[in-house]
Amino acid sequence: MGFEGAEKRFGGDVMRVIAIVNQKGGCGKTTTTVNLAGALAADGYRVLIVDMDPQAHATLAVGLEPDDLDVNLYEVLVDPSGASRLDSVIIDVSDQIDIAPSSIVLSALEQKLATERHDARTERLSAALDKLPPLYDYVLIDCPPNVGLLTFNALRAASEVLVPLETSFFAIDGVQKLLETISLLSDRIGHELCVRVLPTLYDGRTRYARQTLGDIRELFKELCFDSVIRLNVKLREAARAGLPISLYAPTANGALDYASVALELAASPPAQISPRTVAQQEESIVVPEGPPREVVVRFADSVAGDVRIAGDFNGWVPDRGVRSLIASEGLERVWTKVLTLEPGTYQYRYVVDGEWREDPTNPQSAPGPTGQPNSILHVV
Ligand SMILES: Nc1ncnc2c1ncn2[C@@H]1O[C@H](COP(=O)(O)OP(=O)(O)OP(=O)(O)O)[C@@H](O)[C@H]1O
Ligand SMILES: [Mg+2]
Repeated sequence: MGFEGAEKRFGGDVMRVIAIVNQKGGCGKTTTTVNLAGALAADGYRVLIVDMDPQAHATLAVGLEPDDLDVNLYEVLVDPSGASRLDSVIIDVSDQIDIAPSSIVLSALEQKLATERHDARTERLSAALDKLPPLYDYVLIDCPPNVGLLTFNALRAASEVLVPLETSFFAIDGVQKLLETISLLSDRIGHELCVRVLPTLYDGRTRYARQTLGDIRELFKELCFDSVIRLNVKLREAARAGLPISLYAPTANGALDYASVALELAASPPAQISPRTVAQQEESIVVPEGPPREVVVRFADSVAGDVRIAGDFNGWVPDRGVRSLIASEGLERVWTKVLTLEPGTYQYRYVVDGEWREDPTNPQSAPGPTGQPNSILHVV
């Protein structure tokens, strides 16, 4: 079993834990997990793949047969004492890549842990990774296509989130909901999750895909990888062959694209990724010079329970990097949002109890990529 990797370079200072998440099925989560692992391994990094999907596609894609394995992540997650057993379920698939395999039994976990406190059942993976010796440069967690217990475990364990986004109109619509969930969760777990979006399944021959890629870049700005994963049939073949594409077809577009993501990732540890502004990015906009300043916007409502703000200044992650104050004025509650922005022009929307809305007090708006209007903010 297994395949040969490149030179060994384990034992970096930090183990970067990245959850590959999108509730949408078939957008390239598993393909990204396995082939990014392959590309990082080819660059000499040591990678652990954690397969949190009961479908066990990542396990299959590295050439393992889940039914033939005696142990899998279930033993690690099912009770608190399992945390120390992660080491014993990990399988070495090459010099540089190990995997903590999945199995269909993981689908029973949600039911099994139903009566436990939310915190207790969602911190299992995190606790298990904490107990691992620092052997890995990267831990890549492949998540199932839903945001249930297994994905929550992955998000709690991770400090970074990679969202593969199929380059299609409907995919953009769903991802805003996901970003909101991630934002709510990072409030709850008390650590910031650095989210980045990777356009996948890109067919550059169609004008529609090119337009959609432009929309994705406009919407997510620097939170979107510069790299794009093109449609490449070799990626499917590599999965069937049980190898990452870096070994199956190293000169194929799929291998080149994932190699490019690996380089970008290595060049940008999470602390360096901070939402910059439109103004810094687009030279075509004439930008007034000046230091960042505090901008205050307000939203008043008599029925809303939770109001957040999301825009291109915070990667459309609701309330990320925003100071929020709530006050009552008569029957209304007023949410004050304090944004620290450099001069420039920004688009934003409010998220009111989960629903994305224009700013009712701002007459200036522009249609966003999903057709819904975004409010416009000028900072001078
Ligand atoms: N860039 C690509 N070019 C061609 N085929 C691809 C590409 N990316 C993914 N695929 C294929 O698309 C299918 C879905 O991809 P994948 O399994 O990675 O998605 P997923 O998000 O993990 O799906 P699920 O939500 O079911 O876990 C697979 O058959 C995969 O081989
Ligand atoms: Mg998958």
